[in-house]
Amino acid sequence: MATKPSHIKLETKRLIIREHSFDDIDAVEAYSTQEKFWRYLQVGELKEGAGRSYIERVVAEQSARPRTEFNLALVLKDTGQVIGNVRLGVTDLDHGECILGYALAVDQWGHGYASEGVRGILDFAFNTLMMHRVYAMVDSENTASIHVLEKAGFTREGLLRENKRVGNTENTRTSSYVYGLLAHEYRTISCHTVA
Ligand SMILES: CC(C)(COP(=O)(O)OP(=O)(O)OC[C@H]1O[C@@H](n2cnc3c(N)ncnc32)[C@H](O)[C@@H]1OP(=O)(O)O)[C@@H](O)C(=O)NCCC(=O)NCCS
Repeated sequence: MATKPSHIKLETKRLIIREHSFDDIDAVEAYSTQEKFWRYLQVGELKEGAGRSYIERVVAEQSARPRTEFNLALVLKDTGQVIGNVRLGVTDLDHGECILGYALAVDQWGHGYASEGVRGILDFAFNTLMMHRVYAMVDSENTASIHVLEKAGFTREGLLRENKRVGNTENTRTSSYVYGLLAHEYRTISCHTVA
């Protein structure tokens, strides 16, 4: 099973998608303290103001064998600025299934960077890790993220009703769509698009 790559650096038109390092702590702190950033993120994801512990965790994950977590930095090629992150987490190594996640600094929304980053990481998931299925769970009101997934070719597979708390609140519940993309679907799509 292809979870061997030790130092990942991917490239798209405008982005480098690379391993995080301790130099990224300030950038992660900066974008993860923006309130709007958290609106649709759920308990258990990158915690507010926790840049250092997040980086410590994801750097430690880089040397795990087999490696099942790929939390990578999205970096602007032109400036070297870390503008967000993308995650592939292998949920079932034997069956070749992994979960996708991504988040960008609020001031970088609306430029197509998430879509570009997702295209880059899907190439890695299907062509390097040789995954069979990539799925994502998205808040049913997160229109921007739903757009990103559908543009990338994901199919809406179902709705998990009230499966998450909103933010970290106790009483307010939200539902999530499950989206999935299979290797053979990805190959068909990528024959017709340019990354
Ligand atoms: C979701 C997120 C990653 C999108 O990043 P982005 O770089 O702005 O996304 P893109 O520009 O690649 O694409 C967004 C698409 O949604 C559309 N969109 C954005 N907000 C929208 C809204 N409120 N209603 C309808 N469409 C919307 C954009 O027009 C764009 O579509 P287009 O390319 O067809 O024009 C970003 O908003 C984010 O980081 N949010 C916080 C974290 C998060 O929610 N992560 C996802 C968890 S599943």
